[in-house]
Amino acid sequence: MTNAFSTPRTFGTPLSSTAIKVMLLGSGELGKEVIIALQRLGVEVIAVDRYPNAPGHPVAHRSHVLDMSDGVALAALITLEKPDLIVPEIEAIATDTLAALEAAGQITCIPTARAAQLTMNREGIRRLAAEKLGVATSPYRFASSLRELQLACQEIGFPCVVKPVMSSSGKGQSKLDGAQDVENAWAYAASGSRVDTGRVIVEGFIDFDYEITLLTVRAIGASGQVETQFCEPIGHLQVQGDYVESWQPARMAPLALERSREIARKVTDDLGGLGLFGVELFVKDDMVWFSEVSPRPHDTGMVTMASQVQSEFELHAKAILGLPVNVALRSPGASAVIYGQLEAKGIAFEGVADALRVPGTDLRLFGKPESFARRRMGVALATADDTDTARQRAVLAASKVQPVEKK
Ligand SMILES: Nc1ncnc2c1ncn2[C@@H]1O[C@H](COP(=O)(O)OP(=O)(O)OP(=O)(O)O)[C@@H](O)[C@H]1O
Ligand SMILES: [Mg+2]
Repeated sequence: MTNAFSTPRTFGTPLSSTAIKVMLLGSGELGKEVIIALQRLGVEVIAVDRYPNAPGHPVAHRSHVLDMSDGVALAALITLEKPDLIVPEIEAIATDTLAALEAAGQITCIPTARAAQLTMNREGIRRLAAEKLGVATSPYRFASSLRELQLACQEIGFPCVVKPVMSSSGKGQSKLDGAQDVENAWAYAASGSRVDTGRVIVEGFIDFDYEITLLTVRAIGASGQVETQFCEPIGHLQVQGDYVESWQPARMAPLALERSREIARKVTDDLGGLGLFGVELFVKDDMVWFSEVSPRPHDTGMVTMASQVQSEFELHAKAILGLPVNVALRSPGASAVIYGQLEAKGIAFEGVADALRVPGTDLRLFGKPESFARRRMGVALATADDTDTARQRAVLAASKVQPVEKK
């Protein structure tokens, strides 16, 4: 289906008959920044999340609390709001409902409902990349029982990684060193799955030198056609499958960068539509493996709020509206995550001024109503003449911010 915004059109006034209406499905810290970018263009924004006072709620024109995996409820809200564009920000959405509405010509989903469907399940995107597109990935098998998993692990060999097919941020994911680890991995995957599908992927462990996110933008170019542009690669550090630090540009061998772009182009061409994608890749020397892709801004891309002329959120907002984008780097930069560390509601943060006294830094506190030990509550950003210095600054600034409980 063609995107309604792929040809130049007028921009309107929010809350009037000329308004362009965009609905965010998921309004966390990434959605919040997309909403702000849309607001700057006078777009009317409707923010949806599963809990009240999510980060994006207060910066939107209207907010709704909804279980977005409930297809009937989701369709009812879409009928009520009639958005011009639907922008998924999370994976836990009734994507079949979106696909049916899109096929009926009733909605435009970013980048496409099919992309949302394929990427919410590791099996969909992995089979597409490896089997249809012939892109290099880790060796893999799928399993739906402990017995199948034992066989799959034997075939793949150790070490390997087991993940629920539906999960994110490393939830339910474990690295296995031998047959003795399989039973625990199966149980752990069941506990960490977003939806307990009872299905997992086993991947051969890739002993990469480093991993990157290649932000890839599909936007309308001067030719009037969709053109693909690449941001500078983002390096990142993951702990327990969750990102803790990122920096841009990541130093890469020219051939590895060329191969990364080739893979990103192949995958995003197939997913189609307009918008920004976060293509996750593993790199060893000149070898590159595709890991997965988000058809939306990526958490490691928060660094671009400091390092690029237009952040990944502005790029996404502009691209989906059919506008030109600028993917240029502004300065080497870095980000470091601030975790909640506490299990409490309404926590406070000490040391914010100290953090901002670190040269070249900036900060985002997401305003999440409840803190968990490993919940991402904020991020420190930094620029410098080189990424090593930017990383040190971001990590130092993040360490100054102390979550505290006010009794
Ligand atoms: N096959 C593998 N070999 C080596 N390391 C891996 C492999 N799969 C995953 N990892 C490591 O675990 C991290 C998280 O994996 P993956 O991106 O698949 O999980 P996720 O739950 O989707 O995480 P997120 O949602 O944060 O992207 C990767 O960035 C990488 O550091
Ligand atoms: Mg990932």
